[in-house]
Amino acid sequence: MKAGNINGFSKLSKRDKINWIAQTYFSNPEDVVELIEQYWNSDEELQKLHDEFIENTITNFYLPFGVAPNFLINDKWYTIPMVIEESSVVAAASKAAKFWSERGGFKTTILGTEKIGQVHFIYKGDKQKLEEFIANTQQAFLDDTFSITQNMQKRGGGIQKIELRDKTADIPNYYQLHVTFETVDSMGANFINSCLEQIASTLKAKAIANITFTEEEKQIDVVMSILSNYVPNCVVRAEVSCPVEDLKSADIKDPILFAEKFVQAVRIAEVEPFRAVTHNKGVMNGVDAVVVATGNDFRAIEAGVHAYAARNGQYSSLSHASLENGIFKFWIDLPLALGTVGGLTSLHPMVKVALQMLQKPSATELMQVIAVAGIAQNFAAVKSLTTTGIQQGHMKMHLMNILNQFKATDAERVKVVAHFEKHVVSHSAVVELLESLRK
Ligand code: MEV
Repeated sequence: MKAGNINGFSKLSKRDKINWIAQTYFSNPEDVVELIEQYWNSDEELQKLHDEFIENTITNFYLPFGVAPNFLINDKWYTIPMVIEESSVVAAASKAAKFWSERGGFKTTILGTEKIGQVHFIYKGDKQKLEEFIANTQQAFLDDTFSITQNMQKRGGGIQKIELRDKTADIPNYYQLHVTFETVDSMGANFINSCLEQIASTLKAKAIANITFTEEEKQIDVVMSILSNYVPNCVVRAEVSCPVEDLKSADIKDPILFAEKFVQAVRIAEVEPFRAVTHNKGVMNGVDAVVVATGNDFRAIEAGVHAYAARNGQYSSLSHASLENGIFKFWIDLPLALGTVGGLTSLHPMVKVALQMLQKPSATELMQVIAVAGIAQNFAAVKSLTTTGIQQGHMKMHLMNILNQFKATDAERVKVVAHFEKHVVSHSAVVELLESLRK
Protein backbone atom coordinates (compact mmCIF):
# COMPACT_ATOMS: atom_id res chain seq x y z
CA MET A 1 0.00 0.00 0.00
CA LYS A 2 1.15 3.54 -0.77
CA ALA A 3 0.98 6.84 1.10
CA GLY A 4 -2.46 8.42 0.80
CA ASN A 5 -1.60 11.74 -0.86
CA ILE A 6 -1.01 12.64 -4.49
CA ASN A 7 -0.39 15.67 -6.74
CA GLY A 8 -2.22 16.09 -10.04
CA PHE A 9 -4.84 13.40 -9.33
CA SER A 10 -7.47 15.19 -11.43
CA LYS A 11 -5.19 15.00 -14.48
CA LEU A 12 -4.89 11.19 -14.32
CA SER A 13 -7.02 9.07 -16.65
CA LYS A 14 -10.06 7.39 -15.09
CA ARG A 15 -8.28 4.02 -15.14
CA ASP A 16 -5.17 5.48 -13.46
CA LYS A 17 -7.34 7.12 -10.80
CA ILE A 18 -8.98 3.78 -10.04
CA ASN A 19 -5.62 1.99 -9.97
CA TRP A 20 -4.19 4.57 -7.59
CA ILE A 21 -7.19 4.25 -5.23
CA ALA A 22 -7.09 0.45 -5.41
CA GLN A 23 -3.38 0.23 -4.74
CA THR A 24 -3.32 2.92 -2.06
CA TYR A 25 -6.25 1.79 0.06
CA PHE A 26 -6.88 -1.90 -0.61
CA SER A 27 -5.00 -5.11 0.05
CA ASN A 28 -6.90 -6.77 -2.84
CA PRO A 29 -6.56 -4.12 -5.59
CA GLU A 30 -7.59 -6.41 -8.48
CA ASP A 31 -10.90 -7.28 -6.82
CA VAL A 32 -11.65 -3.64 -6.11
CA VAL A 33 -10.87 -2.60 -9.68
CA GLU A 34 -13.15 -5.36 -10.94
CA LEU A 35 -15.98 -4.26 -8.65
CA ILE A 36 -15.62 -0.60 -9.60
CA GLU A 37 -15.70 -1.57 -13.28
CA GLN A 38 -18.80 -3.69 -12.77
CA TYR A 39 -20.65 -0.52 -11.89
CA TRP A 40 -19.70 1.18 -15.17
CA ASN A 41 -22.30 1.34 -17.86
CA SER A 42 -21.39 -0.70 -20.94
CA ASP A 43 -22.86 2.07 -23.11
CA GLU A 44 -19.83 4.36 -23.39
CA GLU A 45 -21.79 7.46 -24.26
CA LEU A 46 -24.11 7.02 -21.28
CA GLN A 47 -21.14 6.42 -19.02
CA LYS A 48 -19.40 9.55 -20.33
CA LEU A 49 -22.53 11.58 -19.54
CA HIS A 50 -22.41 10.41 -15.93
CA ASP A 51 -18.63 10.82 -15.69
CA GLU A 52 -19.00 14.45 -16.61
CA PHE A 53 -21.63 15.39 -14.02
CA ILE A 54 -18.83 15.81 -11.48
CA GLU A 55 -15.05 15.72 -11.23
CA ASN A 56 -12.84 12.67 -10.56
CA THR A 57 -15.64 10.21 -11.34
CA ILE A 58 -14.39 6.67 -10.96
CA THR A 59 -17.68 4.77 -11.26
CA ASN A 60 -21.42 4.96 -10.59
CA PHE A 61 -23.26 4.55 -7.30
CA TYR A 62 -26.62 2.87 -7.61
CA LEU A 63 -29.73 3.71 -5.63
CA PRO A 64 -33.06 2.00 -6.26
CA PHE A 65 -35.56 3.86 -8.45
CA GLY A 66 -39.03 2.80 -7.20
CA VAL A 67 -42.54 4.03 -7.90
CA ALA A 68 -45.56 4.65 -5.68
CA PRO A 69 -48.80 4.43 -7.69
CA ASN A 70 -52.39 5.50 -6.90
CA PHE A 71 -51.79 9.08 -5.80
CA LEU A 72 -54.95 11.09 -6.39
CA ILE A 73 -53.92 14.75 -6.27
CA ASN A 74 -56.51 17.44 -7.05
CA ASP A 75 -58.57 14.74 -8.82
CA LYS A 76 -55.68 13.69 -11.10
CA TRP A 77 -53.88 10.32 -10.83
CA TYR A 78 -50.12 10.15 -10.40
CA THR A 79 -47.53 7.44 -10.10
CA ILE A 80 -44.71 9.00 -8.12
CA PRO A 81 -41.07 8.11 -8.84
CA MET A 82 -38.90 7.69 -5.74
CA VAL A 83 -35.14 7.22 -5.47
CA ILE A 84 -34.23 6.11 -1.95
CA GLU A 85 -32.28 3.39 -0.17
CA GLU A 86 -34.49 3.05 2.93
CA SER A 87 -36.77 0.02 2.90
CA SER A 88 -40.47 0.62 3.61
CA VAL A 89 -40.58 4.24 2.33
CA VAL A 90 -42.05 3.34 -1.08
CA ALA A 91 -44.37 0.74 0.45
CA ALA A 92 -45.60 3.26 3.03
CA ALA A 93 -46.15 5.94 0.36
CA SER A 94 -48.13 3.52 -1.80
CA LYS A 95 -50.25 2.47 1.16
CA ALA A 96 -51.01 6.05 2.18
CA ALA A 97 -51.80 6.92 -1.45
CA LYS A 98 -54.32 4.07 -1.69
CA PHE A 99 -55.84 4.93 1.69
CA TRP A 100 -56.44 8.59 0.79
CA SER A 101 -57.51 7.86 -2.80
CA GLU A 102 -60.53 6.15 -1.23
CA ARG A 103 -61.23 9.26 0.87
CA GLY A 104 -61.18 12.06 -1.72
CA GLY A 105 -57.44 12.17 -2.38
CA PHE A 106 -54.90 14.90 -1.65
CA LYS A 107 -55.59 18.59 -2.21
CA THR A 108 -52.83 21.12 -2.79
CA THR A 109 -52.46 24.90 -3.07
CA ILE A 110 -49.48 26.98 -4.15
CA LEU A 111 -49.03 29.73 -1.52
CA GLY A 112 -46.15 31.50 -3.29
CA THR A 113 -43.26 31.01 -5.73
CA GLU A 114 -40.85 33.77 -4.73
CA LYS A 115 -37.08 33.03 -4.77
CA ILE A 116 -34.50 35.15 -2.97
CA GLY A 117 -30.90 36.25 -3.47
CA GLN A 118 -28.72 38.74 -1.65
CA VAL A 119 -25.76 41.01 -2.28
CA HIS A 120 -24.01 41.43 1.06
CA PHE A 121 -21.91 44.57 1.27
CA ILE A 122 -20.08 46.99 3.54
CA TYR A 123 -20.78 50.71 3.21
CA LYS A 124 -19.14 53.21 5.52
CA GLY A 125 -21.19 56.36 5.48
CA ASP A 126 -24.48 58.16 5.69
CA LYS A 127 -27.47 55.79 5.56
CA GLN A 128 -29.87 58.28 3.99
CA LYS A 129 -27.46 58.92 1.14
CA LEU A 130 -27.21 55.18 0.54
CA GLU A 131 -31.01 54.85 0.48
CA GLU A 132 -31.28 57.62 -2.09
CA PHE A 133 -28.49 56.12 -4.16
CA ILE A 134 -30.13 52.64 -4.21
CA ALA A 135 -33.50 54.19 -5.16
CA ASN A 136 -31.83 56.11 -8.01
CA THR A 137 -29.91 53.04 -9.20
CA GLN A 138 -32.94 50.69 -9.50
CA GLN A 139 -33.27 51.23 -13.26
CA ALA A 140 -29.55 50.65 -13.82
CA PHE A 141 -29.79 47.33 -11.95
CA LEU A 142 -32.61 46.25 -14.26
CA ASP A 143 -30.94 47.57 -17.43
CA ASP A 144 -27.58 45.98 -16.64
CA THR A 145 -29.16 42.57 -15.93
CA PHE A 146 -31.41 42.69 -19.00
CA SER A 147 -29.20 40.38 -21.09
CA ILE A 148 -29.58 37.76 -18.32
CA THR A 149 -33.26 38.36 -17.55
CA GLN A 150 -34.76 38.83 -21.03
CA ASN A 151 -35.41 35.12 -21.68
CA MET A 152 -36.78 34.62 -18.20
CA GLN A 153 -39.03 37.65 -18.71
CA LYS A 154 -40.43 36.05 -21.88
CA ARG A 155 -41.39 33.04 -19.76
CA GLY A 156 -43.10 35.26 -17.18
CA GLY A 157 -40.26 35.57 -14.67
CA GLY A 158 -37.40 37.88 -13.78
CA ILE A 159 -36.37 40.23 -10.99
CA GLN A 160 -39.32 41.34 -8.88
CA LYS A 161 -37.84 43.68 -6.29
CA ILE A 162 -34.44 44.99 -5.18
CA GLU A 163 -34.60 46.16 -1.59
CA LEU A 164 -31.95 47.76 0.62
CA ARG A 165 -31.74 46.19 4.07
CA ASP A 166 -29.87 47.78 6.94
CA LYS A 167 -28.05 45.10 8.94
CA THR A 168 -25.76 47.47 10.83
CA ALA A 169 -27.33 46.50 14.16
CA ASP A 170 -25.81 43.03 13.67
CA ILE A 171 -22.47 43.92 12.02
CA PRO A 172 -21.06 47.47 11.72
CA ASN A 173 -21.57 48.98 8.21
CA TYR A 174 -23.25 45.80 6.87
CA TYR A 175 -26.08 46.24 4.35
CA GLN A 176 -27.79 43.96 1.85
CA LEU A 177 -29.54 44.19 -1.43
CA HIS A 178 -32.32 41.67 -0.82
CA VAL A 179 -33.55 40.65 -4.25
CA THR A 180 -36.69 38.67 -5.03
CA PHE A 181 -37.10 36.66 -8.22
CA GLU A 182 -39.66 34.63 -10.15
CA THR A 183 -37.90 31.79 -11.97
CA VAL A 184 -40.98 29.98 -13.39
CA ASP A 185 -40.10 26.34 -14.20
CA SER A 186 -36.41 26.49 -13.36
CA MET A 187 -35.00 26.24 -9.87
CA GLY A 188 -33.09 29.34 -10.95
CA ALA A 189 -29.84 29.03 -8.99
CA ASN A 190 -27.61 29.95 -11.94
CA PHE A 191 -30.00 32.64 -13.13
CA ILE A 192 -30.23 34.22 -9.66
CA ASN A 193 -26.49 34.08 -9.02
CA SER A 194 -25.70 35.60 -12.43
CA CYS A 195 -28.17 38.44 -11.79
CA LEU A 196 -26.74 39.05 -8.32
CA GLU A 197 -23.16 39.22 -9.55
CA GLN A 198 -24.22 41.76 -12.19
CA ILE A 199 -26.18 43.77 -9.60
CA ALA A 200 -23.10 43.74 -7.35
CA SER A 201 -20.86 45.09 -10.07
CA THR A 202 -23.42 47.77 -11.02
CA LEU A 203 -23.62 48.68 -7.32
CA LYS A 204 -19.86 49.19 -7.09
CA ALA A 205 -19.51 51.02 -10.38
CA LYS A 206 -22.42 53.39 -9.76
CA ALA A 207 -21.20 54.10 -6.21
CA ILE A 208 -17.81 55.22 -7.53
CA ALA A 209 -19.56 57.52 -10.02
CA ASN A 210 -22.04 58.92 -7.47
CA ILE A 211 -21.25 62.59 -6.85
CA THR A 212 -23.18 62.77 -3.54
CA PHE A 213 -20.87 60.18 -1.92
CA THR A 214 -17.65 61.04 -0.08
CA GLU A 215 -14.51 59.16 -1.17
CA GLU A 216 -15.06 56.64 1.63
CA GLU A 217 -18.76 56.17 0.76
CA LYS A 218 -17.85 55.49 -2.87
CA GLN A 219 -15.80 52.44 -1.83
CA ILE A 220 -18.62 49.93 -1.40
CA ASP A 221 -17.10 46.57 -0.53
CA VAL A 222 -19.16 43.62 -1.81
CA VAL A 223 -18.56 40.65 0.48
CA MET A 224 -20.57 38.13 -1.55
CA SER A 225 -23.52 37.71 -3.89
CA ILE A 226 -25.51 34.49 -3.61
CA LEU A 227 -29.02 33.10 -3.70
CA SER A 228 -30.68 32.02 -0.46
CA ASN A 229 -31.93 28.48 -0.07
CA TYR A 230 -34.35 29.82 2.53
CA VAL A 231 -37.55 30.40 0.56
CA PRO A 232 -40.36 31.09 3.06
CA ASN A 233 -42.49 32.60 0.26
CA CYS A 234 -42.06 29.71 -2.17
CA VAL A 235 -44.48 27.44 -0.37
CA VAL A 236 -47.00 24.73 -1.22
CA ARG A 237 -49.74 23.36 1.02
CA ALA A 238 -50.85 19.73 0.79
CA GLU A 239 -53.75 18.36 2.79
CA VAL A 240 -56.11 15.47 3.34
CA SER A 241 -59.38 15.49 5.23
CA CYS A 242 -62.45 13.36 5.73
CA PRO A 243 -65.30 12.78 8.21
CA VAL A 244 -63.66 11.02 11.13
CA GLU A 245 -65.77 7.86 10.80
CA ASP A 246 -64.48 7.44 7.21
CA LEU A 247 -61.04 6.68 8.65
CA LYS A 248 -62.38 3.25 9.59
CA SER A 249 -60.43 0.60 7.71
CA ALA A 250 -58.82 -2.83 8.10
CA ASP A 251 -56.25 -1.49 10.57
CA ILE A 252 -58.24 1.44 12.04
CA LYS A 253 -61.02 -0.19 14.02
CA ASP A 254 -61.86 2.81 16.21
CA PRO A 255 -61.55 5.92 14.00
CA ILE A 256 -62.23 8.50 16.73
CA LEU A 257 -59.59 7.03 19.03
CA PHE A 258 -57.19 6.82 16.09
CA ALA A 259 -57.79 10.45 15.05
CA GLU A 260 -57.44 11.75 18.63
CA LYS A 261 -54.16 9.92 19.13
CA PHE A 262 -52.90 11.01 15.70
CA VAL A 263 -53.67 14.69 16.44
CA GLN A 264 -51.96 14.28 19.81
CA ALA A 265 -48.83 12.85 18.15
CA VAL A 266 -48.67 15.78 15.72
CA ARG A 267 -49.21 18.22 18.59
CA ILE A 268 -46.21 16.65 20.37
CA ALA A 269 -44.08 17.23 17.24
CA GLU A 270 -45.29 20.86 17.20
CA VAL A 271 -44.05 21.60 20.73
CA GLU A 272 -41.12 19.20 21.25
CA PRO A 273 -38.03 19.68 19.06
CA PHE A 274 -36.58 16.19 19.71
CA ARG A 275 -39.75 14.67 18.31
CA ALA A 276 -40.16 17.35 15.63
CA VAL A 277 -36.82 16.50 14.01
CA THR A 278 -37.74 12.83 13.64
CA HIS A 279 -41.29 13.65 12.61
CA ASN A 280 -39.93 15.94 9.88
CA LYS A 281 -37.34 13.33 8.90
CA GLY A 282 -40.29 11.11 8.07
CA VAL A 283 -41.71 13.90 5.87
CA MET A 284 -38.34 14.22 4.12
CA ASN A 285 -38.22 10.47 3.42
CA GLY A 286 -40.99 11.15 0.92
CA VAL A 287 -39.82 14.59 -0.21
CA ASP A 288 -36.16 13.74 -0.84
CA ALA A 289 -36.96 10.54 -2.74
CA VAL A 290 -38.95 12.50 -5.34
CA VAL A 291 -36.53 15.44 -5.30
CA VAL A 292 -33.67 13.07 -6.19
CA ALA A 293 -35.71 11.15 -8.80
CA THR A 294 -36.60 14.42 -10.55
CA GLY A 295 -32.99 15.67 -10.58
CA ASN A 296 -33.49 18.45 -8.07
CA ASP A 297 -31.04 19.67 -5.43
CA PHE A 298 -31.91 17.77 -2.25
CA ARG A 299 -29.37 19.67 -0.12
CA ALA A 300 -31.06 22.95 -1.04
CA ILE A 301 -34.48 21.50 -0.23
CA GLU A 302 -33.30 20.04 3.09
CA ALA A 303 -31.62 23.29 4.19
CA GLY A 304 -34.66 25.40 3.26
CA VAL A 305 -37.24 23.08 4.78
CA HIS A 306 -35.51 22.80 8.16
CA ALA A 307 -34.94 26.56 8.36
CA TYR A 308 -38.68 26.95 7.69
CA ALA A 309 -39.47 24.45 10.44
CA ALA A 310 -37.58 26.73 12.85
CA ARG A 311 -38.96 30.05 11.52
CA ASN A 312 -40.81 30.89 14.74
CA GLY A 313 -37.67 30.55 16.87
CA GLN A 314 -38.11 26.91 17.87
CA TYR A 315 -37.78 23.89 15.59
CA SER A 316 -41.26 22.48 15.10
CA SER A 317 -43.42 20.11 13.08
CA LEU A 318 -43.90 20.84 9.40
CA SER A 319 -47.31 19.19 9.45
CA HIS A 320 -50.43 19.89 11.49
CA ALA A 321 -53.59 17.94 12.29
CA SER A 322 -57.02 18.72 13.68
CA LEU A 323 -60.22 16.94 14.64
CA GLU A 324 -63.03 19.48 14.65
CA ASN A 325 -66.78 19.07 14.14
CA GLY A 326 -66.28 15.43 13.20
CA ILE A 327 -63.75 16.22 10.46
CA PHE A 328 -60.20 14.87 10.58
CA LYS A 329 -57.73 17.12 8.76
CA PHE A 330 -53.98 16.71 8.21
CA TRP A 331 -51.87 19.25 6.30
CA ILE A 332 -48.37 20.48 5.61
CA ASP A 333 -46.81 23.70 4.30
CA LEU A 334 -43.47 23.12 2.59
CA PRO A 335 -41.05 25.64 1.08
CA LEU A 336 -39.82 23.97 -2.12
CA ALA A 337 -37.63 25.70 -4.73
CA LEU A 338 -37.73 23.21 -7.59
CA GLY A 339 -37.09 23.05 -11.29
CA THR A 340 -38.51 20.96 -14.11
CA VAL A 341 -36.29 22.55 -16.75
CA GLY A 342 -32.54 23.14 -16.69
CA GLY A 343 -29.92 21.41 -14.57
CA LEU A 344 -30.07 17.62 -14.47
CA THR A 345 -33.67 17.59 -15.74
CA SER A 346 -32.60 17.58 -19.39
CA LEU A 347 -29.42 15.53 -18.87
CA HIS A 348 -30.01 12.50 -16.67
CA PRO A 349 -31.92 9.85 -18.66
CA MET A 350 -33.70 8.51 -15.55
CA VAL A 351 -34.70 12.03 -14.49
CA LYS A 352 -36.32 12.42 -17.89
CA VAL A 353 -38.19 9.15 -17.29
CA ALA A 354 -39.31 10.38 -13.85
CA LEU A 355 -40.59 13.68 -15.27
CA GLN A 356 -42.34 11.94 -18.15
CA MET A 357 -44.02 9.60 -15.64
CA LEU A 358 -45.27 12.72 -13.85
CA GLN A 359 -46.64 13.94 -17.20
CA LYS A 360 -44.01 16.66 -17.66
CA PRO A 361 -45.05 18.83 -14.70
CA SER A 362 -44.43 22.54 -14.34
CA ALA A 363 -42.33 23.51 -11.30
CA THR A 364 -45.49 24.40 -9.35
CA GLU A 365 -47.08 21.06 -10.21
CA LEU A 366 -43.93 19.27 -9.05
CA MET A 367 -44.06 21.28 -5.80
CA GLN A 368 -47.55 19.88 -5.25
CA VAL A 369 -46.56 16.28 -6.03
CA ILE A 370 -43.55 16.47 -3.71
CA ALA A 371 -45.50 18.04 -0.85
CA VAL A 372 -48.02 15.21 -1.22
CA ALA A 373 -45.21 12.63 -1.10
CA GLY A 374 -44.11 14.31 2.14
CA ILE A 375 -47.53 14.38 3.82
CA ALA A 376 -48.29 10.81 2.66
CA GLN A 377 -45.04 9.56 4.17
CA ASN A 378 -45.69 11.48 7.37
CA PHE A 379 -49.22 10.10 7.58
CA ALA A 380 -47.94 6.53 7.15
CA ALA A 381 -45.23 6.99 9.81
CA VAL A 382 -47.46 8.65 12.43
CA LYS A 383 -50.23 6.12 11.75
CA SER A 384 -47.81 3.23 12.39
CA LEU A 385 -46.27 4.93 15.41
CA THR A 386 -49.62 5.54 17.08
CA THR A 387 -51.03 2.09 16.29
CA THR A 388 -48.78 -0.93 15.73
CA GLY A 389 -45.43 0.79 16.33
CA ILE A 390 -42.94 1.37 13.54
CA GLN A 391 -40.81 -1.72 13.89
CA GLN A 392 -43.38 -4.24 12.67
CA GLY A 393 -43.42 -2.82 9.13
CA HIS A 394 -39.78 -1.73 9.16
CA MET A 395 -38.39 -5.09 10.21
CA LYS A 396 -40.52 -6.95 7.65
CA MET A 397 -38.89 -4.85 4.93
CA HIS A 398 -35.50 -5.06 6.60
CA LEU A 399 -35.78 -8.85 6.49
CA MET A 400 -34.80 -8.70 2.79
CA ASN A 401 -31.66 -6.72 3.62
CA ILE A 402 -30.66 -9.28 6.24
CA LEU A 403 -31.29 -12.15 3.79
CA ASN A 404 -29.15 -10.39 1.17
CA GLN A 405 -26.41 -9.76 3.71
CA PHE A 406 -26.27 -13.51 4.44
CA LYS A 407 -26.60 -14.42 0.74
CA ALA A 408 -29.70 -16.53 1.38
CA THR A 409 -30.71 -18.92 -1.41
CA ASP A 410 -34.20 -18.77 -2.96
CA ALA A 411 -35.26 -21.84 -0.99
CA GLU A 412 -34.03 -20.28 2.28
CA ARG A 413 -35.84 -17.03 1.49
CA VAL A 414 -39.19 -18.77 1.02
CA LYS A 415 -38.82 -20.57 4.35
CA VAL A 416 -37.61 -17.52 6.28
CA VAL A 417 -40.30 -15.21 4.89
CA ALA A 418 -43.01 -17.79 5.70
CA HIS A 419 -41.67 -18.14 9.25
CA PHE A 420 -41.69 -14.38 9.86
CA GLU A 421 -45.26 -14.01 8.68
CA LYS A 422 -46.11 -15.21 12.17
CA HIS A 423 -43.06 -14.17 14.22
CA VAL A 424 -41.45 -10.89 15.21
CA VAL A 425 -38.48 -10.03 12.96
CA SER A 426 -35.18 -9.24 14.63
CA HIS A 427 -31.67 -9.43 13.22
CA SER A 428 -30.66 -12.21 15.62
CA ALA A 429 -33.86 -14.21 15.04
CA VAL A 430 -33.26 -14.18 11.27
CA VAL A 431 -29.62 -15.19 11.66
CA GLU A 432 -30.58 -17.97 14.07
CA LEU A 433 -33.18 -19.35 11.68
CA LEU A 434 -30.78 -19.20 8.72
CA GLU A 435 -28.12 -21.02 10.74
CA SER A 436 -30.56 -23.73 11.76
CA LEU A 437 -31.65 -24.17 8.10
CA ARG A 438 -28.03 -24.45 7.03
CA LYS A 439 -27.14 -27.12 9.59
C1 MEV B 1 -37.84 6.65 9.71
O1 MEV B 1 -37.06 6.80 8.57
C2 MEV B 1 -38.84 7.78 9.83
C3 MEV B 1 -39.68 7.79 11.11
O2 MEV B 1 -38.82 7.79 12.25
C4 MEV B 1 -40.50 9.06 11.08
C5 MEV B 1 -41.27 9.34 12.35
O3 MEV B 1 -40.82 8.94 13.43
O4 MEV B 1 -42.29 10.03 12.24
C6 MEV B 1 -40.55 6.59 11.20
